[in-house]
Amino acid sequence: MKDMYILGIESSCDETSVSIVKNGTQEIATVISSQIDIHKSYGGVVPEIASRHHVKNITIVLEECLEKANMKMEEIDAIAITYGPGLIGSLLIGLEAAKTLSFIYNKPLIPVHHIAGHIYANSLVKELQFPLIAVVVSGGHTELIEMKEHYHFEKLGGTLDDAIGECYDKVARVIGLEYPGGPKLDKLAAEGKDTYKLPVPLKDDSYNFSFSGLKSAVINLAHNEEQRNNPLRKEDLATSFQKVAIESIISKVRKAIQDKNIKNIIVAGGVAANQVLRREMEKLATECQVELSIPPMKYCTDNGTMIAAAGYYAYLEGRVADLTLNSKSQDILK
Ligand code: KG4
Ligand code: ZN
Repeated sequence: MKDMYILGIESSCDETSVSIVKNGTQEIATVISSQIDIHKSYGGVVPEIASRHHVKNITIVLEECLEKANMKMEEIDAIAITYGPGLIGSLLIGLEAAKTLSFIYNKPLIPVHHIAGHIYANSLVKELQFPLIAVVVSGGHTELIEMKEHYHFEKLGGTLDDAIGECYDKVARVIGLEYPGGPKLDKLAAEGKDTYKLPVPLKDDSYNFSFSGLKSAVINLAHNEEQRNNPLRKEDLATSFQKVAIESIISKVRKAIQDKNIKNIIVAGGVAANQVLRREMEKLATECQVELSIPPMKYCTDNGTMIAAAGYYAYLEGRVADLTLNSKSQDILK
């Protein structure tokens, strides 16, 4: 088969990103325009503002990416687009751009589920080995997905309430860290000690997770300390929270490896950047003798590279859409 250059577009939340990837594994060029600084003052992403910025950015990001790759649209073989899940207004901007390019240049349009993108960020690092379990940990998702072959996904379990990243961001806010608090909380936790007692989430036999109880426990603890005029040891609370949150992920992954006789574990999503999660996953992989793949930081948070990589394997499975493709704020990975 001849080389295939896929242009990937991602705009599901607050990053506008376009990337060109060769054969699903080789990054040619990527441009990411992040809106973090804009949303910071609101303590979280404001959907309406996010969409407006995607409108402003998309053409610039696209042109910059083609320039960086030294390529013309005519040389692109197909266009991969995050159709969902995500913020509907944000998704629509990327989708309309992708559809327009597909129509004008007569290129196949490949719909990519955002989580498939996070999973395939790993194929930019090393070849996926099946069967594998993907540990998807992001601002909107916490899921264990089993894959027996390329682009076939089976959900083993997921969060029953908050996603882990969402929980990190809320806890971070309570202890006074700026949005997005996850990475800042991770850093602060490195300076503290595990001294606060917090409830261990959902210690059961399923592959599911629950983080809302843990989040509420941290919020209540912070309020109680404030009412008693006890100074909050922020770094200790960060360490204690992080220990319980990550252990709850690790214990379910350990169970999945043992039950499913898995040989390869991959970690995906923004929280894959977490230092303790990375370290504990490495320990677990050694303990269970499985191959581990965690993307470098630049592929962990939202980017068009992962969408172009996933798009390649989706295309090989014949997943091509026509111009009636619509965005979906919610959609199950299948
Ligand atoms: O995958 P992503 O970029 O966006 C979604 O698809 O949700 O993930 C963003 C999430 C945010 O909640 C952010 O706080 C979290 O990932 N995050 C982290 C770290 N880096 C990013 N959480 C904990 N520790 C980190 N180092
Ligand atoms: Zn994401």
